[in-house]
Amino acid sequence: MTLYEKIQSKTAAVGVVGLGYVGLPLAVEKAKAGFTVIGFDVQAEKVDQVNRGENYIGDVVPEELSALATSGRLSATTDMARLGACDVIAICVPTPLDRFKQPDLSFVESSARAVARHAHKNMLVVLESTTYPGTTEEVLKPLFDKAGFSIGTDLYLAFSPERVDPGNLRFKTKNTPKVVGGCTPECTRHAKALYEAVLEAPVFAVSSPKEAEMTKILENTYRIVNCALANEMAVICDKLSINVWEVIAAAATKPFGFVPFYPGPGVGGHCIPIDPYYLTWKARAVDYHTRLIELAGDINDDMPAYVVHRLQDLLNDRGKPLKGSRILLCGVAYKGDIEDLRESPALKVWDELEQKGAGVFFHDPYCPLVKRHGARIPSVAPDPDLLQSLDAVIITTAHTNNLDYRALLDHAPLVLDTKNIVSAKLGLAMPLPGNLVRL
Ligand SMILES: NC(=O)c1ccc[n+]([C@@H]2O[C@H](COP(=O)([O-])OP(=O)(O)OC[C@H]3O[C@@H](n4cnc5c(N)ncnc54)[C@H](O)[C@@H]3O)[C@@H](O)[C@H]2O)c1
Repeated sequence: MTLYEKIQSKTAAVGVVGLGYVGLPLAVEKAKAGFTVIGFDVQAEKVDQVNRGENYIGDVVPEELSALATSGRLSATTDMARLGACDVIAICVPTPLDRFKQPDLSFVESSARAVARHAHKNMLVVLESTTYPGTTEEVLKPLFDKAGFSIGTDLYLAFSPERVDPGNLRFKTKNTPKVVGGCTPECTRHAKALYEAVLEAPVFAVSSPKEAEMTKILENTYRIVNCALANEMAVICDKLSINVWEVIAAAATKPFGFVPFYPGPGVGGHCIPIDPYYLTWKARAVDYHTRLIELAGDINDDMPAYVVHRLQDLLNDRGKPLKGSRILLCGVAYKGDIEDLRESPALKVWDELEQKGAGVFFHDPYCPLVKRHGARIPSVAPDPDLLQSLDAVIITTAHTNNLDYRALLDHAPLVLDTKNIVSAKLGLAMPLPGNLVRL
């Protein structure tokens, strides 16, 4: 049987390297579609959890993972030699920035080296980690060339960006359209067949990995730029005493040419604040300076300080200094209804507040503990006594579940809502209660 036939008949053994927010849901979908899947990770704890059928990623249905682990359809290992037992491998490892905001491809390189070491003929390798255009052909392909493979003839190599949106209840891995671009037409054909065998969504083929890599960067650059526009609008509207939330709601009534984006305390997560800088780095190699990306990044990066500045003014109006005040951050995850703290702007607001001498507590129903500067800080319960003892609450994450916004409003002396979640959840009409202020 050819590899293509094995993929179509779902008899190909699939390996997923990196069992995080992207890899675990992908491994589960592939196993649910009928493939036998082996997950690979360097963290033994995650591997053990998968083998015990214990879920640790919000978007995975725990019962599905447990059933797949029990049936043996999905297993996990830290033993990279078992990559050699796979016909298809998807690489889903982190792609962070280093401290100079330059791409850190070390995870991609080390996992791809492991794959190349154990690769065999008639194998499909797909990189899913977000990265700069050129990575698949310039970084991965030489490893397989060096190992003696002929790409497109006896080993198939492609890039397919992952679009998972953690916490999104409507679009999951299974029903989100996929883009694929292979190093040769045969590589693309094999990668397309793989995702068509798994997804209930169209698979769109582009002419090479570069177009697929750039597609993902365009999608996330679109987000960083539009978030910056919304944030800049919020700052200007405040100065002009205009209600930015009303303006965005009104603009969104236009049925064409406008997609609403909303302000907030900054932009977080492993994608939006990071991925566009992969392009910035790559563009430098062709003497291009990505002005829009860096300006957008600067505007978003300024938001935590802006939020603290707003709070300082609000406290000043009430005759209180920020120094020595007691502030509760409501929500520390980078976005609503998930537990992911990576690049969370709430943590930057926290830093700013502490630098100015405020005492900071947090409440987050999704994050019971936060590790900061070597300490493990627990979430506090927002009971009436605590709320009354505060100087202010800042809503930093728009969690829509498990949070009693009415209690916050009834007991806290001041609530600065950077996400406009309180009035939205409680259906409050203008004018808002005197202790509620929106960004
Ligand atoms: N999280 C998202 O919402 C999202 C969305 C779309 C795309 N992406 C992209 O997907 C990629 C993965 O992101 P993530 O959020 O799943 O990261 P993650 O940190 O949640 O998971 C990555 C996993 O890879 C493992 N790993 C690291 N090096 C390894 C190696 N050499 N061999 C095996 N396993 C290794 C880590 O232990 C970890 O479990 C990134 O490029 C990211 O930009 C993420």
